[in-house]
Amino acid sequence: MKKLILISLLLLPFAGNVSASGGGVHLDHAPVDVSNKASLQRGAKYFVNYCLGCHSTKYSRYSRVGEDLGLTTLQVEDNFIFTGANVRDQMKIALRDKEARHWFGTAVPDLSLVARAKGTDWIYTYLRSFYLDDSRPFGVNNLVLKNASMPHVLWELQGWQKAVYKEGEKTAAGDPVLDHLESDGSGQLSAKQYDKVVLDIVNFLAYVGEPAQLQRKQLGFWVLAFLAVFFVVAYMLKKEYWKDIH
Ligand code: HEC
Repeated sequence: MKKLILISLLLLPFAGNVSASGGGVHLDHAPVDVSNKASLQRGAKYFVNYCLGCHSTKYSRYSRVGEDLGLTTLQVEDNFIFTGANVRDQMKIALRDKEARHWFGTAVPDLSLVARAKGTDWIYTYLRSFYLDDSRPFGVNNLVLKNASMPHVLWELQGWQKAVYKEGEKTAAGDPVLDHLESDGSGQLSAKQYDKVVLDIVNFLAYVGEPAQLQRKQLGFWVLAFLAVFFVVAYMLKKEYWKDIH
C-alpha cells in the first residue's frame, strides 16, 4: 500500500502534464521571452486591436503596461486606447456577460491570468488551430478547444485552414481521424510570419499574467552579480585573516 502511494505521488507531475496538454492534442512549444520589449510592444498592439473588443485584462492598467513596455503616455493613448478610457483605467471592456451569452453562448473570459491557467503553449497552439467547420455558429472549430465559441479573429492574417482526415480510419465513436490542417493560402501572412504574430500576443499575455516578473528577473540578475562580487571580497578577506595563523 505504502509503495502504491509513493508511486502515485511520483506520477502526479505527469498527470498534471496530461491535463495541461489540451485534451490529448499535441501542443507546439511557444518560445516566449518576456524580456523582449519589442515583442511585448507588438503583442500589446495586436492584443488591443484584435482581442480587447471581447476580452478584458482587467487586472492591468494601460499606464502600468505602458511603463513596463517603455512607452510614453502619449504613445499608449494613441496606440492602445480607442474607447475614451483614461490611461490610468483598467483594461476593461464594454461587453457584458449577458450580451456575450447572447452572441457567443458563453461569457467571454478575462485573459489576465490565462497564460498561467492554461500555459503559453496552449494559447500558442490554440490561436493557430482554427479550422473551417460548417456545423459551428462562426463557421470554425478549434483543435485545442473543441467546439470553441470564439470566431477565428485573426483570419485575415492567417487565412483559413481545412481539416484533412486520415483515409479509411475512424475513432471508436465512428468519427474521422484528423491528419493535419491545410491552409488555403488566403492569409496576408506566411505561416512563419503568422506564428511570430501569435508568439508576440502570447508573450504579451505571459507578461500580463505576472507584470512584476520583469522587475523580478532584472533584480535577480543584480542580486547574483552582487553575490559574485561579494564572494571574491569575502574570499580575499578570509585569506588576509588566516595569513598569520597558518
Ligand atoms: C468576437 C469576440 C472575441 C474576440 C475578438 C477574441 N475572442 Fe478569445 N474567446 C472568445 C470567446 C467567446 C471565448 C470562449 C470560448 C469557449 O469557451 O468556447 C474565447 C476564448 C479564448 C481563450 C480561451 C480562454 C479559456 O480560458 O478557455 C483564449 C486564450 C482566447 N480566447 C484568446 C484570444 C485572443 C488572444 C484574441 C485576440 C487575438 C481573442 N481571443 C479574440 C471571443 C473572442
